[in-house]
Amino acid sequence: MGLKFDVAAAACAALVALPFSAMAAPANQDPLSPSGRWTGASAGGAPTPPMGWNSWNAFRTEVNEDKVVGAAETIVSTGLARLGYTYINIDDGWWMKRRTSDGRLQVRTAIFPSAAVGGPEETSFRPLVNRLHAMGLKAGIYTDLGRNACSQAYDLTSPNLPVGTTAEREVGLHGHVDQDIGLYFKDWGFDYVKVDACGIADYGAERSHVTTLGYRPLKPLLQRGSLARSDAKAIRGLYQEVADALARYRPARDYIFSICNWGGANVRAWGKDVGTIWRTSDDIYPHWTRMLHSFDTVSNRALYAHPGAWNDPDMLFVGVGDFDEHHLTEARTHFSLWAIANAPLLIGYDLRKAPQSLLDIWGNADVVAVNQDPAGNQGVIAFDSDDAQIIVKTLKEPSAKAVVVVNRGLTPVEAVLTADQLRFASDAPIELQDLWSKASSRFTGQTRFKLAPRESRMFVARGRRALADGVYLSEIPGSINVAIDGVAQPELDPMVHRAGWETNGAGERPAYGGWGGAQADAAPYGTALQVAGRRFGPGIGILSGSRFEVKNDGHQVFRATVGVDDETRNRSLKVRFLVYGDGRLLAQTPARGWGEDPIDVQASVAGVKIIELVAKPADPEATPTSVAWGEARLIAR
Ligand code: GAL
Repeated sequence: MGLKFDVAAAACAALVALPFSAMAAPANQDPLSPSGRWTGASAGGAPTPPMGWNSWNAFRTEVNEDKVVGAAETIVSTGLARLGYTYINIDDGWWMKRRTSDGRLQVRTAIFPSAAVGGPEETSFRPLVNRLHAMGLKAGIYTDLGRNACSQAYDLTSPNLPVGTTAEREVGLHGHVDQDIGLYFKDWGFDYVKVDACGIADYGAERSHVTTLGYRPLKPLLQRGSLARSDAKAIRGLYQEVADALARYRPARDYIFSICNWGGANVRAWGKDVGTIWRTSDDIYPHWTRMLHSFDTVSNRALYAHPGAWNDPDMLFVGVGDFDEHHLTEARTHFSLWAIANAPLLIGYDLRKAPQSLLDIWGNADVVAVNQDPAGNQGVIAFDSDDAQIIVKTLKEPSAKAVVVVNRGLTPVEAVLTADQLRFASDAPIELQDLWSKASSRFTGQTRFKLAPRESRMFVARGRRALADGVYLSEIPGSINVAIDGVAQPELDPMVHRAGWETNGAGERPAYGGWGGAQADAAPYGTALQVAGRRFGPGIGILSGSRFEVKNDGHQVFRATVGVDDETRNRSLKVRFLVYGDGRLLAQTPARGWGEDPIDVQASVAGVKIIELVAKPADPEATPTSVAWGEARLIAR
């Protein structure tokens, strides 16, 4: 047992006498001051992860109207639309040029004939967007943050590259944010925009496509794989400009803003504050290990996503390569992992020729329902290894969890699933409903499965909650906003599977910021949560100098056992743990240091809407130390 330190009563008694203004922190004073409100995303156009179809994985730049409309028709006729696949997204390749007289973008009408409207506008996507809307669907468009697009650097043999003078071929947003967003959303009626980043990454003066094709050089703001050489502040600022334009043109905020800078510039930390979804990795390919690579960039980021803001490991490659109709085991695993990670479910396949076996994967209503569960809790890793993983997602239905047990490796695995991993009581029966075979089974304590290489099982589990009268915070990432995660200097995450299937160059190196971030059921650098030798299963691991907000759904009491994590990088920094309710200090601990026993902290949160948990370092300039909010929970009393 940790030392008992219960300050709730004392703190409340002392504070109740003060006027509210004396207790709420003055604005802009100290970043660790309570906000007194939810500062995370609001649901906007994505209360649950967006679903639909995108042209890129199926056609690269060789997209056209028949292919897009064909996908839309199949989505409607097969019933996929009813399951939630509503966005039909046109990726790179649609543009002809930017008209120099007024800067208006022109659609390539040879591949999108309905855009040839004539008249002063000459081309318009309005007819196609109207057609998609009339089918009950929504429409997405693609652009780039810089002057030029990715295809202009990487698809040089494409028949669909922008044409004309240097200025006419500048089809990206640079210098045209307001004009283009107005065109896409007001004039053309799109509902979704994906904003790529090649224009700010790949147009340095020395690049051969820049010199030989006569593009205007742009000093790269983003260097793939390097935090040190990427200007995160400037890049975030540019994406924010797009966000502001979107809010102007669609004040209802019922749109999707997809940030696509491939996990660069530490976007895995700030994407949630700017966009609706943000890519956490470089492009997915239809290769097993590359799929794992993408998955690993979201699987430890559950606390950075919530309704209105979702981690994006890239679009689905179900149907192609390692995930084609001859590899349904792999295809189901890929889909199950995306579903439980609350990834956007964007089909990347030529749907005009989809075999039933693939339609059955995208159309598995039970798996889709897990992804679209209204509580918006991303699955959390309950068992981790390079070979087998168990991911558990808390559903809105009381006492229900979704779980994926996956064999990532090359040899068969005998997997054990325990009640404890599900946060269920180990002495009560647990019902398992297999979401692929539809079989039901039951176990108490633990159960075993044999998994062939690359096989997974996905269930909804129903049992008696271990914490009968409450919930661990790590079970409800959808109700948490990490306002400040304490990371003083972003570092590359070394835990992402490095897909080494192409062996030219020096190999795959850690490439995405996010190391040391806030973690559900783990310490910031991936170790088990532990304070002075005491292990915590459930809990939040985070750095000092952090503040996170938790929506309280009617619980009465907050309780946790806290301290400096054993595996911290800074063993000399002391930290105080503070609990706020709607901006008022409810409880705090004395300063705790490395090696000191964990200490209990509790606060009455009856009637409180937003709880804020702050780990305040004695020296704000010092290297942050890792802290544990062990067994942090909200309970009835
Ligand atoms: C990449 C992006 C892909 C696709 C492609 C188009 O940067 O990650 O998803 O949009 O550009 O050229």
